[in-house]
Amino acid sequence: MFPSLVSVSFTAALLGFLSVATVSSADHLAGRILIYSYTDGFRHDSIPTATQALKDKGPYINVFFDSTEDKQMFNDTILSQYDAVLFLDTTGQVLDAPGEAALQKYLNLGGNFIGIHAASACEMNTSFYGKELGAYFDYHPDLTNATINVIDNTHPSTSMLPAKWHVIDEMYNFVSDPRSVGAVVVLSADESTYVDLGPRSPKQGEPHPTAWYQERGAGVQPGGTAGRSFYTSLGHLNETWKDDLFMAHVAGGITWALQSNTTKVYNSSAVVGSSMVSNFTFPTSSASSVPTSTPTGTSPSKSSAYTLLATQQWLVTACWIFIGALALRS
Ligand SMILES: *[C@@H]1O[C@H](CO)[C@@H](O)[C@H](O)[C@H]1NC(C)=O
Ligand SMILES: *[C@@H]1O[C@H](CO)[C@@H](O)[C@H](O)[C@H]1NC(C)=O
Ligand SMILES: *[C@@H]1O[C@H](CO)[C@@H](O)[C@H](O)[C@H]1NC(C)=O
Ligand SMILES: *[C@@H]1O[C@H](CO)[C@@H](O)[C@H](O)[C@H]1NC(C)=O
Ligand SMILES: *[C@@H]1O[C@H](CO)[C@@H](O)[C@H](O)[C@H]1NC(C)=O
Ligand SMILES: *[C@@H]1O[C@H](CO)[C@@H](O)[C@H](O)[C@H]1NC(C)=O
Ligand SMILES: *[C@@H]1O[C@H](CO)[C@@H](O)[C@H](O)[C@H]1NC(C)=O
Repeated sequence: MFPSLVSVSFTAALLGFLSVATVSSADHLAGRILIYSYTDGFRHDSIPTATQALKDKGPYINVFFDSTEDKQMFNDTILSQYDAVLFLDTTGQVLDAPGEAALQKYLNLGGNFIGIHAASACEMNTSFYGKELGAYFDYHPDLTNATINVIDNTHPSTSMLPAKWHVIDEMYNFVSDPRSVGAVVVLSADESTYVDLGPRSPKQGEPHPTAWYQERGAGVQPGGTAGRSFYTSLGHLNETWKDDLFMAHVAGGITWALQSNTTKVYNSSAVVGSSMVSNFTFPTSSASSVPTSTPTGTSPSKSSAYTLLATQQWLVTACWIFIGALALRS
């Protein structure tokens, strides 16, 4: 008998199990985002397509998406479970006063915000919402072919795009300049490539803002913890939501927003956010067209490495059990 070998091997096996348990419970949370698409004004018929496209993308970017058109969902209890709220083509007055207060509180507690397309055309009298998004919609000329200039290709929402990106979409104009609240504009409509009879307000600034991000969402109140904000004005058509490049643009903006470190997915001491352990089985970095150039913290893009690590640990553990069993037999 080799009692010392037996006890060493069982200790090693136990340690192997413990390290696997530690990795899976602490290091691999999934982000959780609430998609809100209630409309009080114009209703985009691409909302179902867009919602499904986001949900289909979820496993590749390690995000659980819930969707709702119920304004009653905007209370402290519900919002506190999310790492971001995503306003999708919301138009008109989409929240009641308690809902607006809950959203303000969520933003003060580090919650992240994502707005897409007509999200700039809602809550027009709620100034914190306008600042959190960056600028309100003014008008758009007819759906058009246009060239979008990538004016900042260092951001995860743009790094995969061609410098001149051809799209068929609505070229939004805004009533103010998102740069005035601290946004960094990453995409700009090339006004020479389409017809807009105007009158276009000079207040939106130059170059023409089309998508932008805010490191500190400007809707936060003084003393609050600012999360991140990302907005793209593109996304009108069903076809757009079936386009891999557009989806990579949106997914890059979403994953960037979650890396604010102000919600639970990347910060265990955060007040809001999700502590759901990821159970996605997709290899998130290789199958995804999302850029992996700026992973931070326990980034979703590390989950393939995580799976590999866990597998290796299981193999090592199994080997030690086998050796231990051999030792017991002899
Ligand atoms: C877009 O897709 C939805 C279904 O998801 C459909 O109801 C709608 O008619 C489509 N729009 C167009 C213009 O084809
Ligand atoms: C929050 O909203 C949900 C869904 O409408 C509801 O079930 C819940 O009771 C609300 N909680 C509070 C504290 O208002
Ligand atoms: C927003 O403000 C404008 C101008 O003050 C007013 O005409 C409009 O009724 C307000 N809308 C809402 C939904 O309160
Ligand atoms: C965009 O250009 C294509 C090719 O010239 C044309 O077929 C299509 O009708 C145009 N679409 C719009 C919305 O202008
Ligand atoms: C994590 O969240 C806590 C609580 O909101 C905050 O004080 C801290 O600064 C956050 N950490 C980082 C790295 O942002
Ligand atoms: C993953 O977790 C979610 C949320 O708890 C659940 O709805 C889903 O069925 C789970 N999927 C798998 C494959 O276990
Ligand atoms: C988030 O945390 C990671 C890991 O600690 C760090 O590299 C990154 O700079 C942080 N991001 C922000 C916005 O604080």
